[in-house]
Amino acid sequence: MGVPMAKPPLSMRPTGWFQVAWSAEVPPGAVHRMTYFGRDLVAWRGHSGEVTVMDAYCEHLGAHLGHGGTVVGDDIQCPFHGWRWNSAGRNVCIPYEDRPNIGKKIRTYPVTERNEAVYLWHDVERRAPYFDVPDVFGAWDDGRTADDYHRSHPDQILFDPGLELHPQYVLENGVDFAHFKYVHKVPIIPLFTRQEFEEPISYVDFTIAFEGEPGSIEEVDSWVEAINCGLGLAVTKSHGMIDNRTATAVTPVDDRTCDVRFSVWIGRDPSLDEETSRARAIKHARGVIEQFQADIVIWSHQKYADPAALARGEYAGFTALRRWAQQFYPPEDRIEHTQAARQ
Ligand code: FES
Ligand SMILES: [Fe+2]
Repeated sequence: MGVPMAKPPLSMRPTGWFQVAWSAEVPPGAVHRMTYFGRDLVAWRGHSGEVTVMDAYCEHLGAHLGHGGTVVGDDIQCPFHGWRWNSAGRNVCIPYEDRPNIGKKIRTYPVTERNEAVYLWHDVERRAPYFDVPDVFGAWDDGRTADDYHRSHPDQILFDPGLELHPQYVLENGVDFAHFKYVHKVPIIPLFTRQEFEEPISYVDFTIAFEGEPGSIEEVDSWVEAINCGLGLAVTKSHGMIDNRTATAVTPVDDRTCDVRFSVWIGRDPSLDEETSRARAIKHARGVIEQFQADIVIWSHQKYADPAALARGEYAGFTALRRWAQQFYPPEDRIEHTQAARQ
């Protein structure tokens, strides 16, 4: 360590949905502590099942609700003087007064719970969510549901906290055909068949084979479809290989580091009994996670290059992605990308 690294040049305050926990980490009645976007937060689940994410500090005298706070019905009770706050952050009870302090509110955040995970909506201007978290099963409308897959949590996930990387690095991976051969050891350079960067939800499809002999990519009949949900989340579906879905989630902790979460779902094999099918799923998920870990080594030591020395074939994809990414940064944080150099 020693010499502090320069702050990443990309804004760590992007707008969007960001995974902050797995659902199983917030069972009913639990209060879960976390820090994201430079703020200390708590996630807690009321007894009716709804998850609330709010600032961690009580608006009375500032106790941290994650250290001894308790869930009472669908409210959270502060450990210091027993004030209760509801899921909208409103004070609903001061135990030693006959009425609550209706003017006091703890800041809460929009939350979506989907695919075994809890997502928080972050926007520095506090605008309401204007796009949705894709459903890793429903998004493709192929009739397949979560029941067709083994659960990802807790055996088919990766949690790698506190990494010095940026969410945009991770999405750039999705347009980076040249890295697959070196980082993922694929026999043939993949071919992108779709790169659609317009709306906050964007799409990338690519033909890829992880095994086999080098040959023509046109003859490969396996591919991956990815849906990027802003900068915080990308979900994928595989075709023509081990039936898998993945969710990659990168969440800024502060202006230097991010927590990375990766979830893998492997399709059930109906010809096997439950236990054997699950053991097979865990084994395949490990393989997928290992591929992802190979990327993390690069990302966590990478320094954002702008302008990047893009080769001809890289130009369109990277440029489209980098332009698209800017929409998620607060206007004062946006950078004018100098024209990427063509070879
Ligand atoms: S600090 Fe929370 S009730 Fe007093
Ligand atoms: Fe990769």
